Amino acid sequence: RDNFIIAIDGFSSCGKSTVAKAIAKELNFVFVDSGAMYRAVTLYFLRNNIDFTNEQAVKKALDNIHIDFIPNTEKTLILLNGEDVSDAIRQMEVSDKVSEVSAIKEVRKALVAQQQQLGARRNIVMDGRDIGTTVFPDADLKIFMTADPLVRANRRFAELTLKGEDVTLEEVIENLAHRDHIDSTRAESPLRQAADAIVLDNSHMTQEQQLQFVLEHYNKKK
Ligand code: C5P
Repeated sequence: RDNFIIAIDGFSSCGKSTVAKAIAKELNFVFVDSGAMYRAVTLYFLRNNIDFTNEQAVKKALDNIHIDFIPNTEKTLILLNGEDVSDAIRQMEVSDKVSEVSAIKEVRKALVAQQQQLGARRNIVMDGRDIGTTVFPDADLKIFMTADPLVRANRRFAELTLKGEDVTLEEVIENLAHRDHIDSTRAESPLRQAADAIVLDNSHMTQEQQLQFVLEHYNKKK
């Protein structure tokens, strides 16, 4: 393999995608937000009233789901069967259900395979929960991100209210705790720090400092 793979994992709302995007831009790598894929599947399940507990229904639904990333000057768009769902997947209804959906074995199998394909033969930075442990266990650089839960909740709350979402800080705190719990305790590739991952606690760091932190480690490994 001669491409370089950067895996960024960690808890909900740690700013993984923000750092990943900045690195991708700096190094001219492809950026993939794997959480957006789980969110798109969740949106499809909700819209089509798919019973998550019915394996056959889940399998059939997965066959009908096609996800694309379209690089755009402003932000990468995510398409669900051709429709731009970049904003729809960030709504609370999706956040409330996404961890249940992403704990389903068939869902993980389908998305992990797609993610591995996206990273084949390309320099890539992918963020998620199991990128360094399951998707790319041989990633060249693994970062595990964490931050104070209240700092994370405040960041996410500010982001959602800016977008006009009607949520309270308590709801956001509750959602993050709920997702972290399900994500860390599920049977299928739970959220875990890979043994060879470098920890980045960004509770008190600016975005620029986080970018420099990752670049420093990249320069050591490249
Ligand atoms: O990254 P984001 O918070 O948007 O991800 C949404 C949810 O998708 C997570 O809470 C987790 O349940 C799931 N996820 C996952 N594995 C990944 C990425 C996200 O299970 N690699």
